[in-house]
Amino acid sequence: MSSRRDFMGMALGGFTALGGIGALYAMKKSWDPLPSVKAAGFTKIDLSSMVENKLAVEKWRGKPIFILKKTADMKKDDRDLIVGSDRYHLSIGLCTHLGCIPAYKPDDKKFLCACHGGEFDTAGNNLPGLPPPSPLEIPPFKLEGTTLVLGETGPEYQKMFDAGITV
Ligand code: FES
Repeated sequence: MSSRRDFMGMALGGFTALGGIGALYAMKKSWDPLPSVKAAGFTKIDLSSMVENKLAVEKWRGKPIFILKKTADMKKDDRDLIVGSDRYHLSIGLCTHLGCIPAYKPDDKKFLCACHGGEFDTAGNNLPGLPPPSPLEIPPFKLEGTTLVLGETGPEYQKMFDAGITV
């Protein structure tokens, strides 16, 4: 009889613990900073000194950011940033397969992910038949002349967002 009571006590204790975890989770959600607070950080990058086909890597909110000034022979893409007569590629430098950081190969003019052989073109599009399921993501950005502001939403980014190019 006492073992049955022990079992009932343990079961009740288990349900109570689960309820407590649920309540803690709900409280934790309310502690997380609001999106607007997270969006407060931004980074400014001067594009005017960039060299064609040479990848620049910046850090923004703990993530690598790829910026590539495109050469005239690189395919134009709706994902390009257009500044005057120049085109740039901008993306978060994390492979969309499992999050490795791809390397840029200037001779091949593409990004290669060594982890599982993923490849992306100079617009960040994933090449078909390889593990990455989607293009490199584009961070929110704003253009102020030749200055790129990461973390703010400008009309160029909004247009890409509306077209489903960014997430
Ligand atoms: S993480 Fe890049 S191909 Fe798997």
